[in-house]
Amino acid sequence: MAPSLATTALFLAALLVVSVSPAAAARSGSKHAIPTASSSDGKPTAAATTHDIPAVFAFGDSTLDPGNNNRLLTLVRADHAPYGRAFPAGVAPSGRFSDGKLITDYIVAALGIKDLLPAYHDHGLTHANATTGVSFASGGSGLDDLTAHGVLVSTFESQISDFQQLLSRIGEPQASDIAGKSLFILSAGTNDVTMNYYMMPFRALNYPTIDGYHDYLINKFQSYIQSLYKLGARRFIVAGMPPVGCLPVMKSLRGMQPPLSSGHGCVELQNQETQRYNAKLQKALAQLEANSTGATVSFVDNYTPLLDMVTHPDKYGFTQTGLGCCGTGMMEMGALCTSLLPQCKSPEQYMFFDSVHPTQATYKAMADQIIKAHISQFTNN
Ligand SMILES: *[C@@H]1O[C@H](CO)[C@@H](O)[C@H](O)[C@H]1NC(C)=O
Ligand SMILES: *[C@@H]1O[C@H](CO)[C@@H](O)[C@H](O)[C@H]1NC(C)=O
Repeated sequence: MAPSLATTALFLAALLVVSVSPAAAARSGSKHAIPTASSSDGKPTAAATTHDIPAVFAFGDSTLDPGNNNRLLTLVRADHAPYGRAFPAGVAPSGRFSDGKLITDYIVAALGIKDLLPAYHDHGLTHANATTGVSFASGGSGLDDLTAHGVLVSTFESQISDFQQLLSRIGEPQASDIAGKSLFILSAGTNDVTMNYYMMPFRALNYPTIDGYHDYLINKFQSYIQSLYKLGARRFIVAGMPPVGCLPVMKSLRGMQPPLSSGHGCVELQNQETQRYNAKLQKALAQLEANSTGATVSFVDNYTPLLDMVTHPDKYGFTQTGLGCCGTGMMEMGALCTSLLPQCKSPEQYMFFDSVHPTQATYKAMADQIIKAHISQFTNN
C-alpha cells in the first residue's frame, strides 16, 4: 500500500463512525415507503397511546449518536453541513451522521414520546428531556475500547457510566421505574471490525482469525448488557452488524470499481464474516435472555434489510446504493464530508448519505421494520 493510501485509510478509519446499523429506507412521503407505525392520516396509532414505555435510551456508535461528539476534540463529528440538510432551514446540523433523522428518532416519535431522541451531552438538555430518553451513543466507538480510544470518543463503558449518573440524578423510586420499563437500544460492532481488522489489522495480532475477534466482541456486548441489567434495564433491542462489505468506503478501500448505478460489488468475504458474527450474536443474546430473569433481549437483523436495499433498490425508491450522497460518495465522511464538496440532489434516492452512513430514507425504512417486528411486543395492539 502506498503511504498516501495507508494514511488515507488510517484517517478514514479514524472517521469510521460507523456501523450502518438499524438503518432503513424510504423517507416519509416517498411512494416506496414501507408502512409505518403511524396511520396514513398521520394520527398516532394505538402504539402511541397503549404502552407503558416512559423513555428510550440508546448506546453505541454513530448510527445512534445525535450529537454527543460535538463537545469532543475528534474528527468523528457531523455538526456541520451538509449533515442535517433534511431538517428545516435554519436548524443547525445537530451532529447526526445523516441528512436527517436516525432510527431512534423515528422510534420515539412512533411511541408518541417526542419528535427526536436528543444527545445526553446536548447543551440545552433539561432534566425533563432526559427522563423521556436520551442517546449516550458516540460516533466512532465500538464494543472494543481500542476503537473509541483511537478516535477520542466515548467508550461503551463510559456511556453506561453516563446512564448511571442520570439514574442517580433522577433518584428513587422514579429511577427504578424508568429503568425497568424503558427501551434500551444498542448498536455497535461495525467500527471494531472495520477499524481494527479490515483497515488496520491491529487486532489480528491478538486474534489471528476474525472469528476469534467476534467472540471477544460478543463477550463485551454481553457484559455491557449485564451491566445495564444490574442498573435495572429489562427491555433490550440489540442490533446486529450491517453488510459491512456493502459500505461504499469498504468497496473503495478494496479498490473495487464502485457500481455506476446500484447493487453490485460488495466485498463478499466481509459480508460472509458478518453473517457468521450475526448468527453467533443472536445465539448469545438468546442465552443471555434465558439467564436474565424478567428481561427481553431482542436481536435486530440489519443485515437482511440492508442487503435487500442493495439488491432491490427500486423497492425503496433508491437509484443509488453504491455511493454516498456527499462528494464522490466513495470516501468522504465526518470531517471529510463538507459543504464545499458537490452533493447529490435527491438524498431520498440514495441509500447512503456519506461513504459509511445511511440516509434518513434508509433509516426510516429500517425503523418501520423494527417498530413492527420488535417494538410492537411492548405495545398492546
Ligand atoms: C426539551 O424539552 C422541551 C420541551 O418539551 C423541548 O422544547 C426541547 O426541544 C427539548 N430539548 C431537547 C434537547 O430535546
Ligand atoms: C447462561 O447460563 C448457562 C447455564 O448456567 C451458562 O452456561 C451460560 O454461560 C450463560 N450464558 C450467559 C450469556 O450468561
